[in-house]
Amino acid sequence: MALPFFSPKPTSIRERCRDDAATKLRLRYAPYYHAMEAQSGTTIRLQGRDMVMLASNDYLGLSFHPKVIEAGRTALHQWGTSPTGARVSNGSRAYHHELEEKLAAFLGKEACHVHAAGYLSCLSSVAAFAQRGDTLFVDKNIHSCLWEGIRLSTAEVERFAHNDPADLRAVAAASPGANPKLLVVEGIYSMEGHIAPLPDFLAAVEGLDCFNVVDDAHGLGVLGRDGRGTADHFGVTDRIDIICGSLSKSLASTGGFVAGSRASIEFMRTHGKQTLFSAAISPSQAAVATTALEVMQSEPEHRDRLWENTRRYKAILTSLGLDTWGSETPAIPVVIGDKQRAYAFWQALLEKGVFTVLSIAPAVPPGKDLIRTAISAGHTDTQLDQIADAMAYAKKKAL
Ligand SMILES: Cc1ncc(COP(=O)(O)O)c(C=O)c1O
Repeated sequence: MALPFFSPKPTSIRERCRDDAATKLRLRYAPYYHAMEAQSGTTIRLQGRDMVMLASNDYLGLSFHPKVIEAGRTALHQWGTSPTGARVSNGSRAYHHELEEKLAAFLGKEACHVHAAGYLSCLSSVAAFAQRGDTLFVDKNIHSCLWEGIRLSTAEVERFAHNDPADLRAVAAASPGANPKLLVVEGIYSMEGHIAPLPDFLAAVEGLDCFNVVDDAHGLGVLGRDGRGTADHFGVTDRIDIICGSLSKSLASTGGFVAGSRASIEFMRTHGKQTLFSAAISPSQAAVATTALEVMQSEPEHRDRLWENTRRYKAILTSLGLDTWGSETPAIPVVIGDKQRAYAFWQALLEKGVFTVLSIAPAVPPGKDLIRTAISAGHTDTQLDQIADAMAYAKKKAL
């Protein structure tokens, strides 16, 4: 709160903050930053009402798993709250190594490095390897963290149409220089729920001097054997240089990972600014991810239930004639197509006790304003019935 006797001199940036139209709009309609008052699995409490959470990335529903919770609690007592430093200096601990070794082995890579956020991991997966003079081939719809990594790398960028290997082939053919190339895609696209056709992408850059990075934040736990992800799903793990992602989705923690050859991970540890100069992930975050990784493999019923729920939810949306942008995975958008109606749809769902995320341009391509929803193994049959009723109501009210 500003003190009454303190009136800061106007500066351009102070005025920019005060007068920003997008911020004013956000605060007026308030679709974001809702602070939930309580949570138990897929049930959250908001403004005193219990609601179904239909927008979390807790795909396997492990964030309330007793073993996972216990692991976090034990680590907190054993190691304290934080390593309070970067890995390169005072922040490395045995639990980081344990998680990295287990993740690397699971993903079929030689080595792995974990960061305090998936955003950092995925950003670093581009920024640490690409340099000025390199050319990046980039799917147009990649996540913001990859774009930030691209910007920091100062490499040249060639975009290709979303999930379109033929366009990648054309773009690559038009960039014949002898300079190093790097392909950047996601495994499962977070907004669209599309699976990247990795074998076709690899074929499109075959024969080029091309490194590749796959952000599999949404593929881990969802696709592949035991949830090994998109590369494993297609059987191309050994042809992927870097698999990066988040610990905050199927692994029910927070943090991120970068997995690849030992040489590439050690290179990132030498040159990656985000790796060098940011504090390591906390003991409880690491322990939660390590235990969730074990549970994911020893209790396949969570993934079975996730896919069962996904099929049922997809059928609900299809029967209502809603546009799911061809999603093939538990990340399922409901595309509305314009801001006003998307907002009305989102509000109608909220009215019926279903919490979703309003995603409007520029976060999504123009004309693709949508409601982001994601299914979890934790959704019960009763919750799916409630979701079906809410979707029917929102369609009637908003479309
Ligand atoms: C594709 C993708 N990559 C990276 C991230 C960043 O992960 P985190 O939220 O754990 O920082 C996200 C999160 O939304 C994502 O969807």
